[in-house]
Amino acid sequence: MSSYIGTPASRVDGRAKVTGAAKYAGEFNTNGLAYGSVVTSSIARGRITRIDASQAKRVDGVIDVLTHEHRPPMASTDSAYKDDVAPEGSPFRPLYDDRIRFSGQPIALVVAEEPEIARFAASLVRVEYDEEAHITDVYRQRDEAVASAEPGKDIFGPPRPRGAADEAFAAAEVRHDGEYYVPIEHHNPMELYASTVRWEGDGDGKLTVYDKTQGVQNVQRYLCAAFDMKPDDVRVMSPFMGGGFGSGLRPQYQAALAVLAARAIKRSVRLVLTRHQMYVLGYRPAMIQRIKLGAKAGGTLDAIMHDAVTVTSQYEQYYRQETGWSGLLYKCANAKYAHKLARLDLATSCDMRCPSGASGVYALECAMDELAVALKLDPLDLRLRCYSDRDQNADLPYSSKALLDCYRRGAEAFGWGRRNPEPRSMRDGRELVGFGMATGVWDAMQMPITVRIVLSANGHADVSCATSDIGTGTYTIMTQVAADLLGLPLDSVSVKIGDSTLPQSPVEGGSWIAASVSNGIATTADAIRKELLRLAKRMPNSPLADAALDEVKLADGKVVSKRDASRAVSIIDAMRRGSVDRIEQEKSTSFPDDGSHAHNTHSAVFAEVKVDEQLGVIRVTRVVNAVAAGRILNTKTATSQIMGGVVWGIGMALHEETLVDHNLGRIMNPTIAEYHVPVHADVHDIKVIFVDEHDDIINPLGIKGVGEIGIVGVAAAIANAVYHATGKRVRDLPITLDKLLR
Ligand code: MOS
Repeated sequence: MSSYIGTPASRVDGRAKVTGAAKYAGEFNTNGLAYGSVVTSSIARGRITRIDASQAKRVDGVIDVLTHEHRPPMASTDSAYKDDVAPEGSPFRPLYDDRIRFSGQPIALVVAEEPEIARFAASLVRVEYDEEAHITDVYRQRDEAVASAEPGKDIFGPPRPRGAADEAFAAAEVRHDGEYYVPIEHHNPMELYASTVRWEGDGDGKLTVYDKTQGVQNVQRYLCAAFDMKPDDVRVMSPFMGGGFGSGLRPQYQAALAVLAARAIKRSVRLVLTRHQMYVLGYRPAMIQRIKLGAKAGGTLDAIMHDAVTVTSQYEQYYRQETGWSGLLYKCANAKYAHKLARLDLATSCDMRCPSGASGVYALECAMDELAVALKLDPLDLRLRCYSDRDQNADLPYSSKALLDCYRRGAEAFGWGRRNPEPRSMRDGRELVGFGMATGVWDAMQMPITVRIVLSANGHADVSCATSDIGTGTYTIMTQVAADLLGLPLDSVSVKIGDSTLPQSPVEGGSWIAASVSNGIATTADAIRKELLRLAKRMPNSPLADAALDEVKLADGKVVSKRDASRAVSIIDAMRRGSVDRIEQEKSTSFPDDGSHAHNTHSAVFAEVKVDEQLGVIRVTRVVNAVAAGRILNTKTATSQIMGGVVWGIGMALHEETLVDHNLGRIMNPTIAEYHVPVHADVHDIKVIFVDEHDDIINPLGIKGVGEIGIVGVAAAIANAVYHATGKRVRDLPITLDKLLR
């Protein structure tokens, strides 16, 4: 079955992307396109008392200026604005009323014949406010923070405690107690948030919306509800994305505003946000975490306590299970968690690559490193002593867990054995050298999905589903899987995705699409195989006359017996002789969970840093990331995912921080020049290892997904390496040289 699955096939859409044939949301052209430009609030909290758009409206080429006082109708209930992945609360409604909820909130939309005219006219809109006191500092709000959810109540709330953690901690032979901080961080994909709305011209105001989104059907439902439109009148397309990382899971406000404008002027409208405007929206919540670990002198855990305060807005309660990773990973009879939300006058925080995992595991794995120091144990040795082959929170075995192989192969490839345990003991000229490591863990989720396959009598298959390719390589893996399961060459398979009219898909997120859509293809391909066998049996003197369905496969363009390859019928012959031009099947796949196993991906990350002793400059010179994530569909695109995660982990450890001026309540570094991310010069040797992990429990194809596991543990491994190099422990990210020299 595997000619293509597991190979490093190049992206099937690579050529389209490098030649510009692949179109992105802000690039679709249509007749009579008008352009929007957003005016944003300069205060963080209060009310608009007056908007004066008269000067803007006088500019030649301006068509209209929309505000909360002058716009087409919008729904008036919270439920209309609740998208598939909305948290509890009252979702933000752009241009809805006079309330200001965060600095940079959209308050007017200028629509003009040219984008430059719209932008200029937007600068002429005058706004007066009734300002109220705001709060944007998580440290100032931490004492006011409220519990996110009852322990064990929902999947995102903290898990149920076990044992007696306080008593076990108090009685422990060795204790570690530390507070860790992760600042607000922003995904800011290369592609700007953009929507091009095509006014389809008939009386009902039918719209085609090209939107930058990770979920076309999510946006379609949202727009229908917010504008009270019929499902058939709104089609949402997102054929390509220049990066998502969670920023496009929920509908962003530009989609709503572009539709609002199209309905106001009955024309096609394009709205592209500026980089600056993107920084106002969804971000990884800042997080204050406290971890207490109690251990026996021999290096086993008696107590884990993990408390977190994370940031959300005043109007929605976004949270994920930051603390639960601590009790999940290591063998420990006593564990307890607390997760609180600090409500700030900012936009709602949101999922950002490996939400909760990247930040929660950062704190846990730094704390484990500090515990290893206290125990005078090698950090890897401590992980092995605390290793658990069961999910400690749910007390379940794993469907598969090859983490021990990750530790072993990662350590070998890295040369961990050369580490001198003493901090500041390793040098390279005037640089101190540090080795650090961490464990990574993430969920292996899967979601119900529907796939349609149309097989033509010329031997070509069209595979379609409303999922998106957010840049990860979904087109390519879908092509590989379909080619293998239909027994066709790669170039005989076309994949159509990113269109809300295609069969049902969840948003592409949570690392669940590779497993979900691949098994979805398998289900539908089975139905195609069944139909082909029926036709093959009807051929005169059919060699498959008495073959049962599970005895045949599709391979090399044939329906062929698994036991005797000489018994075969060509797919094209079977269809032609049966006078069948096309076989179409559309099947839904769900992933019933009997609750008997935990499903996770794991990794072991090893990092080498070199730190200039005088200047404190840190370079991450080597990273080895050994990953166990079930069956790897494409070694090239999967390696890219992990490598991207490692680069992001370098950013998280050393560079990234969204800075808010708490006096103004405003983000002060909303550009890629001032919000620091790793550049080429910051990225050195990265080695990705996939260890074999066979899993026939999780799903028929044994797939787990690799989109997010790559970042987990990286920041901790680097922070631990910095400690090892310098003897200085910096617990507040990012580890900048001022903190190191302080
Ligand atoms: Mo991902 S943060 O679920 O797009």
